[in-house]
Amino acid sequence: MCYAIPGKVEGIVGNTVIVDYFGEKRRALNELTQVNVGDYIYAQGGFVVNKISSSEAESILSLWKETFFRLQEVDLKLSHLQLKDKDVNKVLLEILDKASQSNELTRQELLYLLRLEDKRQLDLLFKTANFLRQKYHKNSCCVHGIIEISNYCIRGCQYCGISHYNKELQRYRMTKNEILESAQVAVQEYGFKSLVLQSGEDPGYSIDELADIIKEIKDKFPTLIFISFGEIGIDGLEKLYSAGARGLLMRFETSNPKLYEGIHPGQTLESRLKHIKKAYEMGYMIITGGLIGLPGQSKEDILNDILLAQELHAEMFSFGPFIPHPYTPLSGLNPADQREVIKVLALARIIDNAHAKILVTTALETLSREAAKSGMLAGANSLMLNATPIAYRPLYSIYPNRAHQSEDIVFQIESTVSLLRSLGRAPTDLELI
Ligand code: 5AD
Repeated sequence: MCYAIPGKVEGIVGNTVIVDYFGEKRRALNELTQVNVGDYIYAQGGFVVNKISSSEAESILSLWKETFFRLQEVDLKLSHLQLKDKDVNKVLLEILDKASQSNELTRQELLYLLRLEDKRQLDLLFKTANFLRQKYHKNSCCVHGIIEISNYCIRGCQYCGISHYNKELQRYRMTKNEILESAQVAVQEYGFKSLVLQSGEDPGYSIDELADIIKEIKDKFPTLIFISFGEIGIDGLEKLYSAGARGLLMRFETSNPKLYEGIHPGQTLESRLKHIKKAYEMGYMIITGGLIGLPGQSKEDILNDILLAQELHAEMFSFGPFIPHPYTPLSGLNPADQREVIKVLALARIIDNAHAKILVTTALETLSREAAKSGMLAGANSLMLNATPIAYRPLYSIYPNRAHQSEDIVFQIESTVSLLRSLGRAPTDLELI
């Protein structure tokens, strides 16, 4: 079972329900027809996902009760902040002190933080971000599953290993039955409450076929569905929303239009942003962000990226390192530095401290074994596990040697749960009230 606990519905106001988790009140949107006060539900990413029986919920909650409070204590200890390091310069301490009190930093101050290099100074930055994460989100975290349904792509993104330029890659496209089966396993066997369906930009599926798949998953295996199929058009977004998708994972990759156009031949940043904005207006929850370490990307660009993600109402920030793929035009470059990416997570937390979830991306986990832990201790509070059938995973090679590529889902869940428990994080990712 994945990382989730049931909550009890305490109140209903229109389509919003107030959910209680051991005395903590959180808010979720409800689209199910039969939810009443006193019912037990699973909710994730702001949405009620399904209802469960009182007897089942009560037995799960009795197992969680002690753990829940113990986790809070562990988290509280780990996120304690002391900003009195006499060896650290005063300017930095003043900026971090201001940030820790939730005061907005100036652009100059944010750039100062992005330019830090010294290990001790960076540690203080990461601790401040972790303190803010705890202050606003407590120990909540969320774990999504991703199913990569096809590696066909008509785009020629210069950094991406599944772009149509890569003629060495064996292509696959999962059938509807394979997708349904993977969703069933993820939801029913392993307890995922939220799934991202992702592919290259693949006209091999029509929008109607995708809508049909989403509808069937929603009907049979209640779950929160994010789509990530690239630029499917406004009409496509509308149809998939009607089919039941409620989230869009679409990165803008970089906020610098020149840089964007250089690495995305024939595409514009404007078109990408239009998709994200329209999706938000339609009611989609947005996961967005970009690549860190692109050639020619400046610190100013990176700061603009974080600010853009916030402006786009990102429910979740997704920033990951650029990792060169051997069969792409950018093959000769170096991968981004892990610290640079974690700095971005920390800055994102400082900029959007109260609202956003911040994801430790698989690409960041690919850089090192400790990256996930380091990211979670620097402001992040979300993770993504790979629920793609294991035979297809190596073929979804957007960059080489992806983390979790050959780990079965049970192993991924066990190691994630053990990481989250060691950090004192609990699976209650709704907004606190
Ligand atoms: N390195 C890191 N991330 C990559 N992506 C594609 N290629 C690479 C790469 N070489 C990311 C893009 C895209 C997501 C699905 O994968 O940011 O949005």
